[in-house]
Amino acid sequence: MEFHVYENARAACEAAGVLIAAQITRKGDSVLGLATGSTPIPAYEMLVSWYKRGVIDFDRVRTFNLDEYVGIDEKNPLSYHSFMEEHLFSKVNLRPENVHLPSGRSSLDGVAYDEAIRQAGGIDIQLLGIGRNGHIGFNEPAADFTYGTHVVTLTEDTIEANARFFNSADDVPRQAISMGIGNIMSARCVVLVATGESKANAVYRTIRGPITPEVPASILQLHPCCVILTDREAGKLMTD
Ligand code: F6R
Repeated sequence: MEFHVYENARAACEAAGVLIAAQITRKGDSVLGLATGSTPIPAYEMLVSWYKRGVIDFDRVRTFNLDEYVGIDEKNPLSYHSFMEEHLFSKVNLRPENVHLPSGRSSLDGVAYDEAIRQAGGIDIQLLGIGRNGHIGFNEPAADFTYGTHVVTLTEDTIEANARFFNSADDVPRQAISMGIGNIMSARCVVLVATGESKANAVYRTIRGPITPEVPASILQLHPCCVILTDREAGKLMTD
């Protein structure tokens, strides 16, 4: 596990953009695992800017997003489909047929999503944020690690954290569909970005704590190619 601390949140996120851009440069048909949330926005801004300047080309790139809420329409501005459209898909030359997000409309959707990832040859680089409770994707603290894409019930902590995007916590969907820990661990390389003081404890427990499904990100200690990028606040408990 590699760990790098940056002066501020934007620099940490842009560093993740650098790693994704390098992946696309080395392999034009790379398979990217993508995340939503506040954290990765600067990384997407970097990728869009490099695309516009002709540095990277998304023509053959394939993408698979980590998760989506269950029960809200894809066209709803608060869906993760809409988020990705706004921050990346509408701004680069990704082909619509190469873009994938889980949908959770049927109980078989998770199996189909895992199969689509397999058919694409697996994920080359997986971008991750982290929840205050150590969740990755929407793999919440639990008694066991999950394997494939599955429907999850969100914890109160996650509902409260995501309420900022909705009118109130009552409007946050109670369920989501998420890639499992197995999908994430199968990616060839994982880049986790954490910013802000509220993530400091999760970062510490991810890197220094015991490997436990109570802190889902802690399993990344076993990943052969995992890079964790933080700003000073999120990295502040990692003192040596
Ligand atoms: C989003 C996702 C979540 C977020 C996490 C942090 O696709 O999988 O695990 O990465 O909840 O969210 P932010 O970045 O908004 O703090």
